[in-house]
Amino acid sequence: MNRIEALYSFIDECDKVVDVGCDQAKLGLMLSKRKQKSIASDRSENVIDRARHDIGRNQYIDLRVSDGLENIQEGEADTLVLAGMGTHTMLEILSKTNLRFKKIITISNNYHDILREKMNDFNYKVDKELIVEDADKIYNLIVFTEGTREYTEKELLLGLNHIDEDMYKKYIEFLKEKYNNIKKSSQDKNEKVDKILEHINSL
Ligand SMILES: C[S@@+](CC[C@H](N)C(=O)[O-])C[C@H]1O[C@@H](n2cnc3c(N)ncnc32)[C@H](O)[C@@H]1O
Repeated sequence: MNRIEALYSFIDECDKVVDVGCDQAKLGLMLSKRKQKSIASDRSENVIDRARHDIGRNQYIDLRVSDGLENIQEGEADTLVLAGMGTHTMLEILSKTNLRFKKIITISNNYHDILREKMNDFNYKVDKELIVEDADKIYNLIVFTEGTREYTEKELLLGLNHIDEDMYKKYIEFLKEKYNNIKKSSQDKNEKVDKILEHINSL
């Protein structure tokens, strides 16, 4: 399963989807194959022009230039996809909108611990997670639903409710190698790295 297929797997046919930062609108294309309408938006006019050119006529995809959720109206979407951008961009997008979503599906490029924790400020909590391997890279998909929850330090750093145990184990091995290398190559003490390794070694 690649990244886009993973996002798709968490979308029900009745969901009203907006994919913010859609780039080539690959998710919208996949949804259109089962005749599901969606909004695919991006802040870049060039990106949307290119997607329009590449996709051609497709009555199921509403391509839109929008910085975050600026050009999305109340009632147009109940499921938000934020993929391929950083945690701080995602949080900024949420901080600038009053729109509410029953489900937010994220694939952040970084700081998953901050994303899990800060989503509480917007009244969203982790529902489930999936580790995805795509083109030799590992991605952490997180599905948030409405509500808040308290997390342990381990849950914030390593995630929770992983639905694919084998992929989670692979992720842990990947993190172990990554953070051991960081530790070896740096003389400075890094508390976060130490904590991640401590939690991994206690598994
Ligand atoms: C790396 S692409 C990810 C494309 C696709 N979502 C994926 O996961 O394959 C990131 C896209 O997010 C868009 N983007 C970044 N910040 C944005 C914002 N604040 N609002 C809308 N789009 C944004 C960029 O223009 C770019 O097209």
